[in-house]
Amino acid sequence: MKDAFFKYQAQTSPFPLAMEISHAKGSYIYDTNNKAYLDFVAGVSACSLGHSHPKVVNAIKDQLDKYMHVMVYGEYIQKPAVELAQFFASHTPEPLEQTYLVNSGTEAIEGALKLAKRATGRAEIIAAKHAYHGNTMGSMSVMGYEERKQAYRPLVPGTKLITFNNVDDLKEITTKTAAVILETIQGGAGFLEPLNGYLTKVKAKCEAVGALLILDEIQPGIGRTGKLFGFENYNCTPDILVTGKGLGGGMPIGAFTASTKLMQQLKDDPKMGHITTFGGHPVIAAAALATLKEITESNLMAEALEKEQLIRQLLKHPLITEIRGKGLMLAALTPSAEITNQVILEAQNKGLIAFWLLFEPKAIRITPPLTISKAEIEEGCEIIINILNNINN
Ligand SMILES: Cc1ncc(COP(=O)(O)O)c(C=O)c1O
Repeated sequence: MKDAFFKYQAQTSPFPLAMEISHAKGSYIYDTNNKAYLDFVAGVSACSLGHSHPKVVNAIKDQLDKYMHVMVYGEYIQKPAVELAQFFASHTPEPLEQTYLVNSGTEAIEGALKLAKRATGRAEIIAAKHAYHGNTMGSMSVMGYEERKQAYRPLVPGTKLITFNNVDDLKEITTKTAAVILETIQGGAGFLEPLNGYLTKVKAKCEAVGALLILDEIQPGIGRTGKLFGFENYNCTPDILVTGKGLGGGMPIGAFTASTKLMQQLKDDPKMGHITTFGGHPVIAAAALATLKEITESNLMAEALEKEQLIRQLLKHPLITEIRGKGLMLAALTPSAEITNQVILEAQNKGLIAFWLLFEPKAIRITPPLTISKAEIEEGCEIIINILNNINN
């Protein structure tokens, strides 16, 4: 299988981890030698309820027995998609009310950017340095990392970059700006939280000049920071909320949510302003709804904050210089990229899955499933500490 993987499957990097998966359950992934790996990454913040959560699996099976794809998005009334959109409306503040369901995070970002342009009649988009919003052309245009962009230029024109948390840069937001797009917590940059009311200040400036605020909650959303949406921690409601990853409970999905007034712009004049074949797929919508219900009806969000404290307490070590992030979206920083690499690779040998962040080479990603137990957290942190002790000696 390994040879075929390298020969036939298009690769994303020269050195994939190339672990061959047999099955996955709860907080563990098993390779084909039946070795168990404790998962501190959750498919990069996607498997919010761990692997094959019974409620998600049952929702999928139930829907599979009824119908799969029957029609393109938005034509027929399909209960799972309607209920999912309704769930968003009842769990988000006003004026957020209508949700457009798509297939991935980057596609939801594309939809949100289009909506902002359409609604304001303006073309300029302001994004943050070191931001990551996905890998299609529009999302790449608002990515704040030139090294990864330059080979694909020209990208969508009219993008300006500001520094996250820098209030002086807000002067760049003007009456020319269609939207400011920010991750609620910057992910690839190193799990940087907004500080000192930053998001509220951005929102106020947007309101003053008639620009929209798009918050990308694809990673911090869906319970990971102790609230259903990250923005609830920072007293700032976006005009357009973008979600994905953990929303699907292990299935591919993206969504953008806005006021009815805004969202109406996509349906008329010209009609079909955004269309998708598989968006709102009934099986995936059923999985997402089961995921959201489990997260909101259990104690998982409150526990995310307790588990954060446990991780912070257990990962005290001279080679951990800082732990950034909130809830179960944490990054442990070591003094160098080399040490971080060593920890991540050695962890896999020792049965723990850890991973990198896109643009912060010193960070060890710790984004386990929300369902991880405290005993499993202790087990994983002990592996990291033992590796660091060996490096230190
Ligand atoms: C903050 C953020 N935005 C957008 C995306 C893109 O989502 P997807 O990979 O589903 O297209 C990601 C994925 O890592 C992300 O973390």
